[in-house]
Amino acid sequence: MPSNSEIAPAIRLDKVELSLGAGAARVHILKGVSLTIGQGEAVGLIGPSGSGKSSLLMVLAGLERADSGTVTVAGQGLTGLDEDALARFRGRHVGIVFQAFHLIPTMTAIENVAVPLELAGRTDAFARAAAELTAVGLGARLDHYPAQLSGGEQQRVAVARALAPEPRILVADEPTGNLDEATGRQIMDLLFEAQARRGATLVIVTHDPTLAKRCDRTVRLRSGAIETEGAAALAGTPA
Ligand SMILES: Nc1ncnc2c1ncn2[C@@H]1O[C@H](COP(=O)(O)OP(=O)(O)OP(=O)(O)O)[C@@H](O)[C@H]1O
Ligand SMILES: [Mg+2]
Repeated sequence: MPSNSEIAPAIRLDKVELSLGAGAARVHILKGVSLTIGQGEAVGLIGPSGSGKSSLLMVLAGLERADSGTVTVAGQGLTGLDEDALARFRGRHVGIVFQAFHLIPTMTAIENVAVPLELAGRTDAFARAAAELTAVGLGARLDHYPAQLSGGEQQRVAVARALAPEPRILVADEPTGNLDEATGRQIMDLLFEAQARRGATLVIVTHDPTLAKRCDRTVRLRSGAIETEGAAALAGTPA
C-alpha cells in the first residue's frame, strides 16, 4: 500500500473552520482542520461524542460549507460552490451512508436507489438499481418498502443507493451503529469490498474499534481539531 504522500489526494482540507447554528446557539465546531486522504484509502474518523466527526464528514461530503479554509474533493474545490453546484458535485462524486439509513418511506427499495439516478440523468436507472440491490443480496426485495425490511436490509438499500452512481468517494457516519454485530459486519464487508473493488476512497465515522482497525488509517478528533493521525491513533493497533 503506497503511503499517503505518494498517491494523488482524493480529499484535501486546509485550515477548515466550521460554525453552525444561529445567534446565541452558534457553535464553533471545526477549528483549523487540515487533512489529506489519498485515493483508494480507507480512513476511520474516531473521537469522543461531540468532537466534530459528523461535522467533518458533512464538510468533506459537500453537505456543509466551511466558513473558511479550503476543501478539495475529487479534484473539485468546494469552497466557492453554491447549493446547486454542491448537490451536483455530491450526485456525481460522493456516496453517503448514515446511521439511520435515511430511506424514503413511500418508495420501494428499487425506487430509493433508482430515483436519484434518474434525477442525475441516467437512462438505465432501474436496471442499475436492480443490479446494485442484487449485489448487496436484496434481489428478492426490490419491491419492498423500507418498513417491510429489517434494519440490516434497509442499510443494504442505503449502501446500494450510495454505490449506484459509482462515486469515487464513499462516506459513512456510524453505518453499523443501529445494527447487531453480525449484521454490522456484513455492512462493513460491503463498504470495504466497494473500496477495494472500485478503488473508492472510504471515510467512516465510527465508535467501533473493530471497524476502525479495518481502515488503512485512523484520524482522531478532539474538540473540533485533529488530535492524532495514523495507526497510532488507536492504542494497541500495530503500525
Ligand atoms: N446544526 C448545529 N448547530 C449547532 N451546533 C451543532 C450543530 N450540529 C452539531 N453541533 C455541535 O457541534 C459539535 C460536534 O458535533 P458532531 O455531531 O460533529 O459530533 P460527533 O463527533 O459526530 O459526535 P457523536 O459521536 O455524538 O455523533 C457538538 O457540540 C454539537 O452539539
Ligand atoms: Mg456524529
